[in-house]
Amino acid sequence: MRNFILFIFALSSARATAPPELFSPLVAQKVLAAAKAPLSPILFPQYTDAAVGKWLLFNGDAWATSFFPATLYEMHRRQKLCGDEHGVGGVDWLELGRTWSTGEIPSETKTGASHDVGFPFIEELKVNPRNETAKTAVKAFAMAIAKRFNVKVGCTRNGDSPGPNFQVFIDYMMNLEVLFVAEGITGNHTLRDIAIKHADTTIANQIRPDGGTWHIVEYDSGTGLVTKKRTAQGFSDDSTWSRGQAWGIYGYANMHLRTNFPRYLETARRLAAYFVSNIPSDGIVPWDFNAPTTPAPRPADSSAATIAVNALLLLSQRELTVRNSTGAQIWRNAALSILNNITRLAWRPDWESLLSNGTVDLPANNTLTGIVYGDYYFIRAGNELKELGLASC
Ligand SMILES: *[C@@H]1O[C@H](CO)[C@@H](O)[C@H](O)[C@H]1NC(C)=O
Ligand SMILES: *[C@@H]1O[C@H](CO)[C@@H](O)[C@H](O)[C@H]1NC(C)=O
Ligand SMILES: *[C@@H]1O[C@H](CO)[C@@H](O)[C@H](O)[C@H]1NC(C)=O
Ligand SMILES: *[C@@H]1O[C@H](CO)[C@@H](O)[C@H](O)[C@H]1NC(C)=O
Ligand SMILES: *[C@@H]1O[C@H](CO)[C@@H](O)[C@H](O)[C@H]1NC(C)=O
Ligand SMILES: *[C@@H]1O[C@H](CO)[C@@H](O)[C@H](O)[C@H]1NC(C)=O
Repeated sequence: MRNFILFIFALSSARATAPPELFSPLVAQKVLAAAKAPLSPILFPQYTDAAVGKWLLFNGDAWATSFFPATLYEMHRRQKLCGDEHGVGGVDWLELGRTWSTGEIPSETKTGASHDVGFPFIEELKVNPRNETAKTAVKAFAMAIAKRFNVKVGCTRNGDSPGPNFQVFIDYMMNLEVLFVAEGITGNHTLRDIAIKHADTTIANQIRPDGGTWHIVEYDSGTGLVTKKRTAQGFSDDSTWSRGQAWGIYGYANMHLRTNFPRYLETARRLAAYFVSNIPSDGIVPWDFNAPTTPAPRPADSSAATIAVNALLLLSQRELTVRNSTGAQIWRNAALSILNNITRLAWRPDWESLLSNGTVDLPANNTLTGIVYGDYYFIRAGNELKELGLASC
């Protein structure tokens, strides 16, 4: 009851509003256009070209494969939240989500399968907890991650290569979710212990005193000692790559959701405070917070922005569980501010993607594109805000 009263109080004193583009008919139209008639074998949209915003398609074992099927599940959720409005009427989004996620199932058996492939199956289990195909997939992906855990290091590694150079990306905080869902299916608590150990080791070694993060920490797989801290996609080894920071906020807010351990809430706050306070006065999230501002414009990463919006909304909800309505409001307003600014910059009616100004990988010159996970988290932000009573369809 007390929580509920605080919740209502926090909601009623919110000021910022959500951008109307979140529920534009273009959302359903564009997603549907990309989802029609999957090829066989299914090729997945990951990012667009930078000139005209056409989706580029990739095999099912590429790391961002999950996000398009997960987008279709998110549209199914929207249909339930909003009714048959805005062009979503008559579309069986759930069927589309199921069709598209089958293209990922072959990755289960590939030892090199990426960390990021389990999400649509988690969504399927929310709709139908008894779907055996989805259960098997989640278990397989969780086991693949668990197999990459090294007790000496205290983390799960990048890929299956057995070499001494054991690399941990900040991004993996996002994938711990699969371990908790698989624990729920199997009752195997080792999976949860691995997630907790990974999160704790990452707190110790991958977060700077100012709350920024290293993209990659390398460990010696034999001794477990840190050998190097560096970047792959950021500006420099000591910079904070904004998308990694956003994955980190989400990962720790989610760890708090899963465990209620105060240290995870505190860590999510530190990472969030860094993110929010390092956004420049133009309100636009740069691809790396430490990248030089000249020559202008410094490329944005709209995907870092929309991931952070979802992360901050989750963090805001976590604050309510510790009766911190002030904290909840701070993060909710920050989320809305980031969302408004990125929408103003990157909303692109003439492209196949919803947003432009994504940076997939700046060192590889892959920038100024639409990105599948940028769009996914944009749609999901709309759904979350609708559920919180902070936006209408
Ligand atoms: C179960 O889930 C899988 C994978 O998400 C999907 O392909 C399949 O259609 C679902 N089966 C049923 C009966 O809903
Ligand atoms: C639980 O999961 C761990 C990690 O994958 C595995 O090593 C162990 O054998 C599992 N335990 C059982 C009882 O299945
Ligand atoms: C946003 O994208 C447009 C069009 O691709 C580009 O001209 C502009 O420089 C970008 N701005 C930022 C901050 O990334
Ligand atoms: C409430 O949340 C804010 C923002 O996370 C934090 O700075 C503050 O310490 C929290 N207050 C309490 C009493 O936990
Ligand atoms: C855009 O960002 C600026 C600077 O962070 C912020 O003051 C402003 O409120 C944001 N705009 C919107 C519409 O939220
Ligand atoms: C990216 O572009 C810069 C400037 O044109 C060039 O020097 C660099 O080699 C390119 N990098 C890659 C990976 O293509």
